[in-house]
Parts: sequence; structure tokens; C-alpha cells
Amino acid sequence: MKALVLAGGSGTRLRPITHTSAKQLVPVGNKPVIDFGLEAIAAAGITDVGIIVGHTGPEIEAYVGDGSRYGISVTYVHQPDPLGLAHAVLTAEDFLGRDDFVMYLGDNLIAGGITEFVEQFEANRPDAQILLAKVRDPERFGVAELGPDGHVSQLVEKPSEPKSDLALVGVYLFSGSIMDACHAIEPSDRGELEITDAIQWMIDDGQKVAERTITGWWKDTGKLYDMLEANRIVLDTYEPRMEGSMDEASEIQGRVVIEEGAELVNSTVRGPAIIGKRTRLENTFVGPYTAIYHDCVVTDSEIEHSIVLEETTITDVGRMEDSLIGKQVEVGRSRRRPAAMRLMLGDHSRVGLV
Ligand code: G1P
Repeated sequence: MKALVLAGGSGTRLRPITHTSAKQLVPVGNKPVIDFGLEAIAAAGITDVGIIVGHTGPEIEAYVGDGSRYGISVTYVHQPDPLGLAHAVLTAEDFLGRDDFVMYLGDNLIAGGITEFVEQFEANRPDAQILLAKVRDPERFGVAELGPDGHVSQLVEKPSEPKSDLALVGVYLFSGSIMDACHAIEPSDRGELEITDAIQWMIDDGQKVAERTITGWWKDTGKLYDMLEANRIVLDTYEPRMEGSMDEASEIQGRVVIEEGAELVNSTVRGPAIIGKRTRLENTFVGPYTAIYHDCVVTDSEIEHSIVLEETTITDVGRMEDSLIGKQVEVGRSRRRPAAMRLMLGDHSRVGLV
């Protein structure tokens, strides 16, 4: 069995972060989202992995490399335009041939990985196997309707009036016959070749599409709130670790990871939280559910329930919550006169003032 990881797309819902970064590389618990998927694939014993990349391809390639760090071997497949998930499958036809594969959307996170689902697929050998999860907002996803026999009868992509609360999780298992389905379907109203339509085509064709409903958490990290929630979930799973340094006036409370070279000066970190390599906190409080990435400097501030990317400087901001701050950002208080806000914000930035 092979794996196909989708790491293209433009990440419009995570702008401005995605103006300069691939959404799959935004860290959750100080770990790029794509790592969770690649580690799950490796843990399921799959080593032959294709990664679909778009315009952020060079960045993904620079980060993932040949995959040896994960114990996998990576083949990059370039998808010139993001024309849909089924289009991505067709783009990878040379790599996939008619082999079985697991398709993993690179911005999805699933509790407990995928090993169990791969084993079920290999034991039962359906033509396709989908994963479903109960959600509160099914209109944001592909939605499955179950027939009287309890099996999937209808799949609809982002319906305005969902017929169930069962969303399609971004992990799919396919036999080679998905290729025929992807060739057969037409673009949807949003102009994409939808994998949802391809699977529906298989159902209509009388093929066996098995489903599993997952009970653990699952996150599609496409939006700010989802990122913060994924960050919360992941931080809760970390074992406390102290590899940095702290002075006597500093304190660590609860489930906290302090990475190598990080430094606490007169600061408190209340877990679950992670402080990245070489990051320095001074006169600062870092509250629960916060991940601060490497090489940041945070001074005279309070940060809670937030994600801060690398090499960012935060000075005297008062209290900050529910925030996602990009890399090499400077947030600070100006003492200059006239006393006024001085902002330089990228396109699509969002600022909430108090
Ligand atoms: C895609 C699929 C959708 C699925 C979702 C899971 O949506 O089209 O069916 O429920 O992934 O993350 P997208 O994130 O591309 O809008």
C-alpha cells in the first residue's frame, strides 16, 4: 500500500499566515501539522509516499526532504493548480498506478493515527473506505448520509442543508478503482473535481464503499479557531520536559515542555504549554494552551491560548489571548509621541483591539 499526502492548496482561511507559509507547515504544539500525518503513515507501515504540492512546493520539499527522517521514501508530485482532491489523485496517476493507497489531507489531525483503519481495509478489501466523524458544523465538510442498512448511501460536498452530522474526515483508503471514478466525474459548482463525487460515483457503480465512524478527536486545521483547538488537544498529550533554563524567580506549573536553550527570567509558564528552542521569556506569564515556537523573545507580557511562530518578538503587550502570530513578527508598545498606534499589517491581517 502507498500513501498520497495532499500538501497543496492556498490556505485562504488562514491568511495572512498562508501568504508566506504552506498551511501544512504551521505548527501545532510546536510541530508542523504535516508531521502528524507523515508519522501516522510511517507508523502504519507505509513507506512509499507521494506528496502533492502546489505553489508552496519548495517550502514543503525543503522541510520534509526525502522523508528518511520519518522512515518513509517521498516522491513529490506537482499539481499546477488546486483543481480538487480528485484532480490531485489523477495528477498522481503515474506514481499510484492501480495500487491501493491511503489519501491523507496534509492539514488533518486524527487521534491515534491511521494504523487501525489501514488494517481494516486490508482485512476486508472494500473498493474504498471512508472515515466519518460527528461534527457540529457539517456544512463545512463533505457529508455522508447513511441508508437503512447503515451504510453510506449519499455523499455531498459542503451541502447548505446537511442531511446528517457525519463529516468526511480527510483520510481515505482506496483501491485502484478510484482512478476510474476520478476520470469519470465532472467538476463541481466550485469548479473542482471533488473526491466526494468520485466516491459517490463508486457507490452508484455498485462498488463496495465501507465506512468507519471515528470516536476520538479529529481536526481539519484550516481556520484559526481549528488551529487553536488542535493546539489545545496536542499540548494535552505532551509529557512535561525541561531542557532549557530558568532563574529562581521563574515558575513552571503543570504540563509544560521547555525546549533546549529556552530561557525563563522572572516568568511563569502554566501548562499545558510549550516554549520552543532558544526562546526567551522575561517578566512574562504564558498561560494554558499556548505554544511559542523557537527563537522568540517575549518580554513584559501575558499570553494565553495562542500560537506564536518562530523568531517573533513580543514586548509589553498587556494580555493577549486566542491569537495566532506569524514568524518574525514584532508586537510592542511604542513610547514615542504622539501616543498613537503604529501598525504595519500584512494583507488579510486581523487585529482585535481592547
Ligand atoms: C476537504 C473535502 C471534504 C472533507 C474535508 C476534511 O474539504 O473536500 O469533503 O470533509 O476536506 O478536512 P476542504 O478542506 O478541501 O474544503
